[in-house]
Amino acid sequence: MEIEYRPFTPGEAGLLAAFLTGEEWPYHGSGGPDRDAIMRQVADGHYDSGSARTFWIMGDNERVGLIWLFDLDDGTPMFDLRIRAAYRGRGIGGAAVAWLTRYLFSELPGICRIEATTRQDNEAMRRIFRSHGYAKEAHYRDAWPGPGGQVHDAVGYAILRRDWAAGTVTAPDWDDEPR
Ligand SMILES: CC(C)(COP(=O)(O)OP(=O)(O)OC[C@H]1O[C@@H](n2cnc3c(N)ncnc32)[C@H](O)[C@@H]1OP(=O)(O)O)[C@@H](O)C(=O)NCCC(=O)NCCS
Repeated sequence: MEIEYRPFTPGEAGLLAAFLTGEEWPYHGSGGPDRDAIMRQVADGHYDSGSARTFWIMGDNERVGLIWLFDLDDGTPMFDLRIRAAYRGRGIGGAAVAWLTRYLFSELPGICRIEATTRQDNEAMRRIFRSHGYAKEAHYRDAWPGPGGQVHDAVGYAILRRDWAAGTVTAPDWDDEPR
């Protein structure tokens, strides 16, 4: 499948709302925003502003996924990635992380790292982080609300510009407690 990354424009608010409400996103917590809330978020610049950019992942002219880049103005950008259920497991998510990592380091020469957080049991996302140069930096216990009042642990990953440029992965020094 030919993949292309196409910038989202505010005029596509209805398409975005349909995308986000059109299916369940099990790792994004329970009760995501409804159509009206998404339309308001778009009008408020949540997806496209000085601090955020959004891209459709187009596959054979279909909207198969979405990349939301945010906190672009605070030194460490973060991202959210969604692939529609029918298109998962085909390498699209991994390719998107490679693309957005290169995009952010190229577009924002001042940043030295990119971060992302996911639910601990999101195996596919965690495999992508590890195979694309991201190192686990954080573990937040009982931090991710799930359906039915259940809570999950959250895990945070990041990639350093110097690692990305060198093709290395520098692990944090976990054994650093004062003796
Ligand atoms: C997480 C997500 C982005 C992964 O995208 P994808 O296109 O399905 O992933 P890929 O096909 O690139 O596969 C990535 C890796 O995960 C593995 N994988 C794919 N689906 C999996 C699954 N259901 N369970 C476990 N591993 C899985 C693949 O084998 C691959 O591993 P490898 O690199 O070791 O071979 C996608 O599943 C998704 O959008 N999920 C819902 C939204 C979400 O959880 N987003 C992340 C928020 S941070």
